[in-house]
Amino acid sequence: MVVNLRPPTIPITEIEQSAFCQTDDDLSARSLEEEFGAGVRWQKLPLSYMRMKPEELDARIAEAKAKLGDRVVMLGHHYQRDEIIKYADFRGDSFKLSQLAANQEDAEFIIFCGVHFMAETADILSSPDQKVILPNLTAGCSMADMARIDDVLDCWDDLEDVLGANGGVIPITYMNSTAAIKALCGRNGGIVCTSSNATATFEWALTRGEKILFLPDQHLGRNTALKFGIGVDEMIIWNPFKPLGGNTEQQIRDAKVILWQGHCSVHTRFTVEQIDAARIKLPGIHIVVHPECTMEVVQAADSNGSTEYILQMVNNAPAGSIIAVGTEISMVNRLAAANPDKTVFCLDSVVCPCSTMYRIHPAYVSWILDGLIEGVVVNQISVDKETAEQARLALDRMLAVV
Ligand code: 13P
Ligand code: SF4
Repeated sequence: MVVNLRPPTIPITEIEQSAFCQTDDDLSARSLEEEFGAGVRWQKLPLSYMRMKPEELDARIAEAKAKLGDRVVMLGHHYQRDEIIKYADFRGDSFKLSQLAANQEDAEFIIFCGVHFMAETADILSSPDQKVILPNLTAGCSMADMARIDDVLDCWDDLEDVLGANGGVIPITYMNSTAAIKALCGRNGGIVCTSSNATATFEWALTRGEKILFLPDQHLGRNTALKFGIGVDEMIIWNPFKPLGGNTEQQIRDAKVILWQGHCSVHTRFTVEQIDAARIKLPGIHIVVHPECTMEVVQAADSNGSTEYILQMVNNAPAGSIIAVGTEISMVNRLAAANPDKTVFCLDSVVCPCSTMYRIHPAYVSWILDGLIEGVVVNQISVDKETAEQARLALDRMLAVV
């Protein structure tokens, strides 16, 4: 059993999450210098970019993109700000973006407007001569930061001690995790999943092993396991700060699913009370949420799915529909604007963008593009060869399953 446990710590990204929460619905970009006032970590960049007004940045990005042409492809996750998403050549959920990254053979540079784990995945899936760039290196993910590789390796050792080296545990890691964790899954017969294919990967794992270790989002893991008739009494939580994750050896032997104690600070803001209040206020409303929400919220909602699922669901709903959405606000606001014949709003009245996605500010994109024109590559994300090869095994298994 691992005995040298670290004292409980909260990732800095989790502590910083509420810095952008506001009651005013205006999320338009301001100059980066003004946004620095939010009191979170930002990557430093030349003062001239920090002081540029949004209109100036907009014009510069358009010009630089035109100059670079096909040498650059910009991928944008659905949670990006409007000022970024307008320049994305492709947008999508984590799964779609990973497929897109794997298929951009012609571009020299992939600028990933999303968060760190997405850029790492793009680097693993793209060809070796392509360069993946994350515009702001402080754009991480608080959930991914809740699973440190050292803690996960300790957990894996403990599971082997209790269950034996061939204990029948299949590790599944959510895309929202480091490349090192994806590599652990790759070399131990495991797989990566996203919110759009978690069910298919559970099915894959259950035909290959006795138990699943699900990292790092306990909620997506629990919501998916329930679909297979696995009861909450057959699931245990692995708390990395406690011996044996806070479990007895017997509990580990009895468990069908071991859920890492991680969560998304954006999606755990949604509550059953918000859903109940919306139903009372607007009878006939449809509630759609992301499966990173808690089990109670997912069960109280009418439907759930990945960001791409939510996008299609809202876009395809008949005119006049009233839809409350339990996911990130930049995406919900864009859906509302794109569907003026429907009433679309966020389930949470407090406006809380994902604080790490939000750190991709136009000033960074402009700085990156100007650098590329000058022949300077900044913020390249590069996964070491051994990690990339092992992580790729787990990613390829996912791509083959769905
Ligand atoms: P999607 O794969 O649904 O886009 O989710 C990514 C994410 O980070 C949601 O919080
Ligand atoms: Fe991570 Fe949550 Fe932000 Fe998604 S919304 S990137 S899970 S913190």
